[in-house]
Amino acid sequence: MAIAEGARLLSGNAVRDQILEEVAADLRELAGRGIRPGLAVILAGNHPASEIYVRNKVKTCETLGISSEKITPPESVTTGQILELVDSLNGRDDIDGILVQLPLPPQVDARRVLLEVNPAKDVDGLHPVNIGNLVTQRPGLVPCTPAGIIELLKRNQVPIKGARAAVIGRSDMVGKPVAMLLLHEHATVTICHSRTRDLPAVAREADILVAAMGKPAFVTAEFVKPGATVIDVGINKLTDRAEVERLFPGNAKRLADIDTKGSTLVGDVHPDSVLAVAGALTPVPGGVGPLTIAMLMVNTVRAARLRRG
Ligand code: GUN
Repeated sequence: MAIAEGARLLSGNAVRDQILEEVAADLRELAGRGIRPGLAVILAGNHPASEIYVRNKVKTCETLGISSEKITPPESVTTGQILELVDSLNGRDDIDGILVQLPLPPQVDARRVLLEVNPAKDVDGLHPVNIGNLVTQRPGLVPCTPAGIIELLKRNQVPIKGARAAVIGRSDMVGKPVAMLLLHEHATVTICHSRTRDLPAVAREADILVAAMGKPAFVTAEFVKPGATVIDVGINKLTDRAEVERLFPGNAKRLADIDTKGSTLVGDVHPDSVLAVAGALTPVPGGVGPLTIAMLMVNTVRAARLRRG
């Protein structure tokens, strides 16, 4: 078996910067017509990771000049109260995009809430109408992380047409939609999950491997075809020193993270193991994450254009 020299790191930051420049040009054009897109984010309860994600989304809006509004109902919020919030945002002409940050508190019926968002303002692309549009290749709003992955592949000249792609994970937010987008780019796509028999062998068939199942450092070299492009969607914050020692034996940087910051950030891919075999790998942090936010900005501008003509 030929072993690659070492993978190219696919930075999401560079592609994000490109995309945000394009968004800024679109915003200037809209401003010329007196339109300033508006995004509303509902962040319910106390979820430390969500708070960081939402802060970054709002900050990016501010930098670009998209007006943004953060609504923060308490952890005890009911489904009915969130539905009322969504209804009032649906009815406001200055709001082009509505994002309900997930997860919602456990007592809230998240599926009901996502159904309430006006599909024309559904910048997360999670409403069944937009999922249907995606599957049938009609114009609509596409989930941000999957759309960002396709941008990352294309803008790094990774060939998709005819490639074998494997997606590990079948979530509504990432696994299923990214599989559909890869299919539309003419890849031959396999969706794998926890019940897939001989998962490493199936993954090893792939020229493009997307890891999106939320298991820290799960994808190791045995999952990777030499030279494959590996996209790591996972963001796992490890705080248990014993777990870090087990996953990263002898990795001084990881242990120093734990000892100084109390945690270390790990994707679903084991970088130390996969870097030696893959042709290209997205880092965590700084890979797919920045693109999710960039595509949210793209979707907000798109929603404004579609709705306001
Ligand atoms: N939680 C983690 N990522 C996301 C995202 O992209 N959108 C929403 N709504 N919630 C999330």
